[in-house]
Amino acid sequence: MGIIAPSILSADFTRLGDELIQIKKAGADWIHIDVMDGQFVPNITYGPIIVEACERASDLILDVHLMIEKPDLIIPEFAKAGAHYISVHAEACTHLHRSLQLIKSFGVKAGVALNPATPLSSIEWVVDQLDFVLIMSVNPGFGGQKFIESSIEKIKALSNMLKEKNSTAIIQVDGGINKDTINKVSKAGATSFVAGSAIFNTENYTKAISKLRRNM
Ligand code: DX5
Ligand code: ZN
Repeated sequence: MGIIAPSILSADFTRLGDELIQIKKAGADWIHIDVMDGQFVPNITYGPIIVEACERASDLILDVHLMIEKPDLIIPEFAKAGAHYISVHAEACTHLHRSLQLIKSFGVKAGVALNPATPLSSIEWVVDQLDFVLIMSVNPGFGGQKFIESSIEKIKALSNMLKEKNSTAIIQVDGGINKDTINKVSKAGATSFVAGSAIFNTENYTKAISKLRRNM
C-alpha cells in the first residue's frame, strides 16, 4: 500500500485548515510541506510557522521538504514545529552526514532529496543514516511541472542500491505525479508519492486520490 502525500503548495491558503481536513477525509496519508528560500530554488514559500499550523490543524504525518541553503540553521525549528519527516537536498549540504544526524537527534525521520541531475552516488556513503530518499522528478521550485522520464530509471537504480545495502529506506517521488505517471514510478520501486496539482487542482479530492491509488 503506497503513501499518498499531497503537497500543500497547490492548496488554497485562504482556507488551509479546511484543505487539510478535506485531504484527510479523501484518504491522504502524509502532508507534504515544500519549504523554499528563494536561494536554493527560484521561489519562496513558508517556514516553521506553517508547519506548526498544520500540526494544530491535522493529525496526519508532516513531511517537510527543505529546498533551502544551509538547512542546519533551521532544522531545529522545523523539528520543534512538529515535523515527522524532514528531507534536505544533497546539493545544499556540504556536510550531509551531519545534517542527517541533526534531523535524527530530534527523533525526526531523515531523508535526502536529489535533483534530477544529481547522481545516486551522492548518497552512497550515508545510506545507513536514511529513513527515506526523495527523487525529484521535476526541477524543484514550482508545482504543476511536467514529469521528467529519466526519473524512472533512477528510481529503479536506487531501489537496487538500497537492496544491495540492506536498507529499508522509503523511496519517495516528487513532481509531475498524476494518474498517468504514478504507475511507472510505482513499478520502478517508489512507495511514497507526492502530488500537488493532481489533487488540489481538482474539484473532488477523494476521486483524485482514488485515481492515484488505482493506478499505483
Ligand atoms: C516542487 C515541489 C513539489 C511540488 C509538486 O518543487 O517539491 O512538491 O509541489 O507539485 P506537482 O505535483 O504539481 O508537480
Ligand atoms: Zn516537494
